[in-house]
Amino acid sequence: MAQVIIENVYKSFSTFRKDEEAIIKDEISVLNAQDLSHIITSENTIHASKHTVLRRINLAVQDGEFMVLVGPSGCGKSTLLRSIAGLESLTAGNIWVGDRLVNDLPPSERDIAMVFQNYALYPHLTVYDNLAFGLRRTKEEGRRKKEEGRGDKEEGINRDRHLENTANGNLINSFSLQFQPLFENVLTAATRNLPKGLRYWSEREKAVDERVKTVAELLQIESLLHRLPKQLSGGQKQRVALGRAMARNPQVFLMDEPLSNLDAKLRAETRSQIVQLQRQLGTTTIYVTHDQTEAMTMGDRIAVMNQGQLQQVAKPLELYHQPANLFVAQFIGSPPMNFITIKFTAPLMVSHPQFRFTLPDVWARKLGNYDGRSLILGIRPEHLSVSPPAIKNLQVWVEIVEALGAETYLWVSLVEMRETRLQVRIGSELAVKVGDKIWLAIAPDKIHFFDPDTSLAIF
Ligand SMILES: Nc1ncnc2c1ncn2[C@@H]1O[C@H](COP(=O)(O)OP(=O)(O)O)[C@@H](O)[C@H]1O
Ligand SMILES: [Mg+2]
Repeated sequence: MAQVIIENVYKSFSTFRKDEEAIIKDEISVLNAQDLSHIITSENTIHASKHTVLRRINLAVQDGEFMVLVGPSGCGKSTLLRSIAGLESLTAGNIWVGDRLVNDLPPSERDIAMVFQNYALYPHLTVYDNLAFGLRRTKEEGRRKKEEGRGDKEEGINRDRHLENTANGNLINSFSLQFQPLFENVLTAATRNLPKGLRYWSEREKAVDERVKTVAELLQIESLLHRLPKQLSGGQKQRVALGRAMARNPQVFLMDEPLSNLDAKLRAETRSQIVQLQRQLGTTTIYVTHDQTEAMTMGDRIAVMNQGQLQQVAKPLELYHQPANLFVAQFIGSPPMNFITIKFTAPLMVSHPQFRFTLPDVWARKLGNYDGRSLILGIRPEHLSVSPPAIKNLQVWVEIVEALGAETYLWVSLVEMRETRLQVRIGSELAVKVGDKIWLAIAPDKIHFFDPDTSLAIF
């Protein structure tokens, strides 16, 4: 287990992906130096069009924490995750896993397991062998690394022990010390597909078997161990992919939209399973999604990202109740928060061509600097309610009614400003139809204000 520290990370890509770059180069060579100026411009274009996908990302994920990274498609989530895994190099900044700076370590040495959206199972291996594959490999790698990295002292002791054995004439012992693991590996591999009684089980293979069985039990895929990936449903494949990451018992899990290929019901089920598993294992996890519901329901904390920059990092309900800016306010919560531009007059007056009201006292201090200015008022759909006519209330046209059973969503527009559209969440017992003209009250203690120049929330 380990914390993950991301420090001032930047990542730039050339705007042209490799294939596009190749096409341009081909075009250039076709020109065959007839028009030199064109070539120079093209090359300059390639050179000049680097774009920055991650900008000054700072994030500290605690040991054992479930951190969700959420943001719209294309905002840089996968790039950040791939950078942590070591699949992308950083343009600037540092990434620490535990107390190791991993910037220059290859993915295999970061002790991280990644689960992707497309399950990436080995099609010719059974579920059992898919789970065991990483284990067999990491064990071997681990041993090799250990041997390579062994300190002089330890190496000396081993050499001494070896010499001692030889000197004692205990050649058989010496032989088995050196070659037994190799011999065992060969025997294990050669007999792996034989019936159970005929298989050779090395200590290592027994340990792998135990780990595979534990993980299979946790994920409830024991009955699938002998199937091939093509004999599994999407949900089962995804669980095997998760299992493969878990089996390796890494310090950190990285998951990139692992549920997006599943249907809604399975997604909700698997969502809670992943959360439960993570709690049991206590492995530090960074989970990427574009879905705010997933983020809200899974994360210990959520990091909201937009256009390559972190917007806010906080616990789910803190994001909901105290969004730091307009982006977070409209991204977290479904349906999203409504925004209306109003004029503020100190100490507490809110006015709009269609309504006017006095704010609760707490705002007098917070809005002291905004006397006479325009502000963006934010109100969530659940904090508007159908009410009698009043000067403080908003008169609206009902344009769309979505009756969901337990509750109803309305899409409405202000009667005198049709371009101002709002969404409202009301109880299903209220009879409201398309074309109705109704009055809405704003819950006074649920109002948010944003500075229209900076889009920052005013607290
Ligand atoms: N290898 C690459 N070369 C150039 N641009 C890339 C590359 N990978 C990603 N990008 C660009 O970086 C931006 C962020 O992509 P990505 O991290 O995949 O976003 P997300 O996962 O949030 O949808 C996008 O504009 C994408 O086109
Ligand atoms: Mg992505």
